[in-house]
This record gives sequence, structure tokens and C-alpha cells, in this order.
Amino acid sequence: MIDIHTHILPGIDDGAADEALAVQMAQAAQQEGIHTLIATPHHANGKYSNPGMHVRHDVDTLNRLLEAQGVAVKVLAGQEVRINRELLDDLQAGGTIGLHDTQYLLLELPTSDVPSYTEELIHELRIQHRIPIIAHPERNSVLAAHPDKLAHLIEAGALSQLTSHSVNGAFGRKLQKLCLDWCGQGLAQFVSSDAHNLGNRAFGLGQAYSLIGRECGRTMEEYLRDNAERLLEREEIPFLSAPQARRKQWWKVW
Ligand SMILES: [Fe+2]
Repeated sequence: MIDIHTHILPGIDDGAADEALAVQMAQAAQQEGIHTLIATPHHANGKYSNPGMHVRHDVDTLNRLLEAQGVAVKVLAGQEVRINRELLDDLQAGGTIGLHDTQYLLLELPTSDVPSYTEELIHELRIQHRIPIIAHPERNSVLAAHPDKLAHLIEAGALSQLTSHSVNGAFGRKLQKLCLDWCGQGLAQFVSSDAHNLGNRAFGLGQAYSLIGRECGRTMEEYLRDNAERLLEREEIPFLSAPQARRKQWWKVW
């Protein structure tokens, strides 16, 4: 398996605290059957700034350490960049980078807001042949309550990445159901762990894929697994169905 969203780089955000924990996370990933991880430390979120050059340096260091310790997991450079008005300039300057230097960019929204310029930014990124992937949209309270807004962002050119723990039910049944619904509505193109540690935010990626396979069918599971490979190969991500949100009845909005 390939995991496109992890906080495995040690000591630079709220993920792995030190090198020993980073190695243990990689070992846990290997045991689960994950052979490639994209390290996506937080960037430009007001608390953490991890420019591309620094991420690449830390990825090289970690890969050497993993090789020395016999851990058969490859780490690639990326970022989880918080949406901000300077993003295009930072991208131009090399501070913001794509996932494994592909055209795909992991974009984080605030937890309870979708900034008014989001759609315009998606449009601008697409003009520059960049494809934003919205990190865990199910954990954004606006998108969770109004999936039609997520459908709109996907129609504008973004993609969507669900978190394995949301799919597995760790954040509650409602969020789990939402994720499974979204799989069938063209509102999910990736699943990844967003792993931060070995405790409550470990990987759980295989479990999430299996659960999607059981609940949504093998075709959907294969589609999501294959999309992570397509991303690394810089291929286009196809759609199984057009993004289409069922509007929630007002009394079910939470
Ligand atoms: Fe993350």
C-alpha cells in the first residue's frame, strides 16, 4: 500500500516526536503492508512552517536511518499545506511543494470554515496544472454538514482524501457513515492515514480499505488503492462517478 498523508518526519510538527518514534512508525507501516509513505508535515498553518527544501532534507535523513535499521519502507517528500492567500507565491518560490514533486498538492482547510477564496484558489492552481487534494474534508464541519459544497469544490477541480480513522469509525459512527456515503457519491478519491503516532493516530489504512471493500464494493476499494499509485506515477485521477452530494435534511445537519 501507499500512504499519501503522514506526519512521520521527526520533531517538525505534531507528528513523530523523535527519530526513534519515526522509525517505529515506519516499522508499524511495514507490518501493515505499506511500502511507501509520503511525509506531509504541516506547512503554513500558523504554527508550523516546513518549506520544501527542509522537508526533502529530513526525508533523506529518515530514509538513510530506515535503511540502516533494515526497515523496508520508502519515504517521499510532501506537505500538508494550510490554505492561505500567499500559497501561489510560496509555490512559485519553492516553499510549498507537491506530493513527491508531482502536480498533486495536499491542501488543508481550517476545521470549521471554508475560506471564501477557496474555489478561486483551486481554479488558479488548475490553471498552473496543479491539482489540489483536500485533506480530510469529512473533518471540516462546513463540508460535513453541506457535502454539496465539497461536490462543488471537486467540480471546480479539487480531489478529496478521506482519513482512514474516520472510515474506521474512530471519530464516531456519523463520520464513518458520511465517509462511506461519500465513496458512493464521487466525493472521495483517496484514503490515507494522516498518521501522527503509534497510538490513537496510527495507520489503519488496510482496515479502512477492507471496510470500504465490504461496504461499498471491491471496485471502489481498488479504485482508491489504485489512485495512490496513479498519483505517484503522475497519472490523471479518474472518476468512478460524478461528484454528487445528497442534500441533508435540515434536521439532520450537525
Ligand atoms: Fe495531516
